[in-house]
Amino acid sequence: MIPRKLRQRLFAWLYTGGAWLYDPLTILLFAGQWREWQRSVLPLVHGERILDLGCGTGQFLPDLATCRTVVVGLDRSTAMLRRARSRAANIGAHLVCADARALPFREGTFTTVVSTFPAEFILEQRVRDEIARVLAPGGRFLVVIGGTFERHAWWQWPLVLVLRAFYGHALSPGWQPEVSLSSDRLPGYWQRRPSHSGYASVWVAEREDA
Ligand SMILES: C[S@@+](CC[C@H](N)C(=O)[O-])C[C@H]1O[C@@H](n2cnc3c(N)ncnc32)[C@H](O)[C@@H]1O
Repeated sequence: MIPRKLRQRLFAWLYTGGAWLYDPLTILLFAGQWREWQRSVLPLVHGERILDLGCGTGQFLPDLATCRTVVVGLDRSTAMLRRARSRAANIGAHLVCADARALPFREGTFTTVVSTFPAEFILEQRVRDEIARVLAPGGRFLVVIGGTFERHAWWQWPLVLVLRAFYGHALSPGWQPEVSLSSDRLPGYWQRRPSHSGYASVWVAEREDA
């Protein structure tokens, strides 16, 4: 496993100076399946006001914009958001530069908060408290954490390495994802969403006080 400090440095670089590399890298590492795994969650998106948390280069924004009135992409990296700009402009989505630990939105603003391939921030309790706050009652919180290749199983090992590099100790044996992703106001469960080559692993939670 990559030591935590080195991992953080690598990703800090990827989201700043290396932002240009992000899209080709995801295509390469995930054998082109990443976009499919993202899209597999679309039928679960609820309501008209959607926040893409940690939207990165904004690849998912055009998909989210189909039939949704308000789509906001939030990321703390200006370099990633710069790459998202034209994608957002084409579909009238809004981009916000902020930290997921302090979301600059009023209580109950969104009907769905979705995060695809999020960084470690998603495992922080204060981030989930913020998500619960900005979600409307009955709102949904969806996380596409990764996927599994069933048709091209030989591609699975680099994927596992990438996920480990990303989430570190969190994916070691004994990890209880329910503990890391669930919270009192946002209880959830795992769902497998079928895709062309296998399935995406999606965390589905709902704000309790509906
Ligand atoms: C692996 S990328 C995922 C991008 C995109 N969602 C995707 O599916 O390709 C993780 C993103 O989370 C952003 N990020 C990391 N920590 C963050 C935080 N605390 N608040 C907001 N965004 C954060 C990074 O800048 C990066 O763009």
